[in-house]
Amino acid sequence: MKKALITGANKDIGFETARALLQHGYYVYLGSRNLENGKAAVEKLKAVGLDQVEAIMLDVTDEQSVQNARETIGSKTDMLDVLVNNAGINGGFPQSSLEAGIEQYKKVFDTNLYGVIRVTQFFIDLLKKSTEPRIVNVSSSGSSLTLHSDPTWKYYSHKAALYQSSKAALNMYTIDLAYQLKDTSFKVNAVCNILLPSMVPS
Ligand SMILES: NC(=O)c1ccc[n+]([C@@H]2O[C@H](COP(=O)([O-])OP(=O)(O)OC[C@H]3O[C@@H](n4cnc5c(N)ncnc54)[C@H](OP(=O)(O)O)[C@@H]3O)[C@@H](O)[C@H]2O)c1
Repeated sequence: MKKALITGANKDIGFETARALLQHGYYVYLGSRNLENGKAAVEKLKAVGLDQVEAIMLDVTDEQSVQNARETIGSKTDMLDVLVNNAGINGGFPQSSLEAGIEQYKKVFDTNLYGVIRVTQFFIDLLKKSTEPRIVNVSSSGSSLTLHSDPTWKYYSHKAALYQSSKAALNMYTIDLAYQLKDTSFKVNAVCNILLPSMVPS
């Protein structure tokens, strides 16, 4: 059975990713910075018969927490097939490149970029044991440099300095990571998931 770790999986896109992977026969380590919220999410999945899942406490901004999660998962399995770096924050709105302070930038980057780097580096050894390792970084089309430079794009005016710069940096990290792993069986991708309330099964 293939095994996956998803960060920020106690709700919304991360939770639905867990559901989808479980439906495809994966064992899922459901990351949540609040363990009780993670356990509640696991119970929801078990209630619909998806029981190959367990909650793992993991705060991507806290190196000790990531290390603890690595040790916990390492005590249960010697390999990981999929890492979904889903945990993210938007930093609150409005956010302007002239008004947002460095501390606000640091906070958003600590989750959306450094969090991904932390988790990836702590788990890369387990992923290297898989025959088909996959790393999926959850990004956003709203961080596309090309789209946001095009005045004819329908969301051109939807600027969000903190969030979009952090996800644009994540895109570059993803490209670099894929390059570092190009001669291996890894596949490394960034994805954009738009989650609308109507998409969430009740
Ligand atoms: N929603 C969209 O339309 C959309 C579009 C494009 C991309 N995305 C990206 O998709 C991902 C998920 O989005 P979403 O809409 O599901 O967001 P969400 O509803 O705000 O959920 C975010 C998840 O990340 C977790 N999280 C935040 N900070 C964390 C940390 N330091 N350590 C661990 N977990 C942390 C949250 O935990 P708590 O429950 O404890 O807060 C929650 O589980 C994000 O990376 C987002 O940028 C979303």
